[in-house]
Amino acid sequence: MDDLVSLCKRRGFIFQSGEIYGGMQGMYDFGPLGVELKNNLKQAWWSSMIYENDNIEGLDAAILSNPTVLRYSGHEDTFSDPMVDCKSCKSRWRSDLLQNNKCPGCGSSDLTEPRPFNLMFKTNIGPIDDGETFGYLRPETAQSIFTNFKNVVDSSSKSLPFGIAQIGKAFRNEITPRNFIFRVREFEQMELEFFVVPGTDEEWHKKWVDMRLLWWEQQGISSENIELYDVPKDELAHYSKGTIDVMYKFPHGLEELEGIANRTDFDLGSHSKKQDELNITANVMKNNSSNTRLAIQDQNTNEWVVPYVIEPSAGVERGILAIMNEAYNVEQLENGKERTVLKLKPHLSPIKAAVIPLKKNNEELVALASEVKNSLQKLNLGRIILENTGNIGKGYRRHDEIGTPLCITIDFDSLENKTATIRDRDSMEQEVVAINELQNYLIKKING
Ligand code: GLY
Repeated sequence: MDDLVSLCKRRGFIFQSGEIYGGMQGMYDFGPLGVELKNNLKQAWWSSMIYENDNIEGLDAAILSNPTVLRYSGHEDTFSDPMVDCKSCKSRWRSDLLQNNKCPGCGSSDLTEPRPFNLMFKTNIGPIDDGETFGYLRPETAQSIFTNFKNVVDSSSKSLPFGIAQIGKAFRNEITPRNFIFRVREFEQMELEFFVVPGTDEEWHKKWVDMRLLWWEQQGISSENIELYDVPKDELAHYSKGTIDVMYKFPHGLEELEGIANRTDFDLGSHSKKQDELNITANVMKNNSSNTRLAIQDQNTNEWVVPYVIEPSAGVERGILAIMNEAYNVEQLENGKERTVLKLKPHLSPIKAAVIPLKKNNEELVALASEVKNSLQKLNLGRIILENTGNIGKGYRRHDEIGTPLCITIDFDSLENKTATIRDRDSMEQEVVAINELQNYLIKKING
């Protein structure tokens, strides 16, 4: 983990938030390369969900949430950790992390009884802080998918099974943020709510577990480092009938990368008016004041159905940590030296290609390199940079470390023969390619 953290800071992937004032626990900022990697991962998820499935629609909803939504979702009552306070040193701890009922800070046994501590961030809305007009920063993106269920169904004429997907920020007031970007207070989720006919839910649950495993493999996560965890009944979230966690061997241990839950009809049922008229099976929150019924009409029978929901929910930051961990390699070279190389899948690499003129002060070389950069950039495959440092060896080392799949050198032969030398990150092999073939070469490399 230390090597990864150091690389992230040194090369501009991830910084501690507010570092110049000492930082803030559980908050991180993504730097110039981190934001590219993050966008690429999110784009890969978005494409696999929405562009590759005509029965999945996208959504981008507000982060500030109406408290009523989170009351009926069950989060106001149940989204909490039991906490104890140490009466000796005044620190606060999650009760499940205590060992031998002693304060992990000072060792005292003088602790309060466990009390629930709600994980949602509450914030005042409007100019007057009267304690009444407040909102929550959403603790999951899922709820706005449920509250928009009717809007999406009505505007896109969907029938079961279909999904609504969203990527966005979520917030949890974690007591013990830890392990770099693994457990943080502000993070991004990639969540799909997939609505199915009740009774077909278990079959769809299994299908989504398989599909998500395949997707993580496509992002470079080795199946050897993945385990599935069938969450026991007493650990399930309040809305879940069954959850399979995709566990990854992170540098700090085996932990959840993604959870795939069968949320049944709990959420749509809880948010629906006229619950008595609907055949809702889950034990939902009653006396709802919404004026909508979140159900869909069966096209054959005309009956109103409250669908069951399968929810694959992945954390972007956890994904990035896992992907960087997989990609990070230190290789021994034949000359006795070693190189650090980030073997990212090319579609995730922050920079797709670096174009390097052999000499930084040679106008002709720089002009041609610049022309090549612009022509490759036009392909819109991601960021291409002109690396005009005049030091090819140093350029290769930097681009190995940040995972750039290709370095393209423009030298004097390029001026004469209209060719460039391509160096491959993983094999370190070099190949001379005609400049007018570079676009095709890059497309093949990035898209496979
Ligand atoms: N939507 C599931 C979760 O946030 O854990």
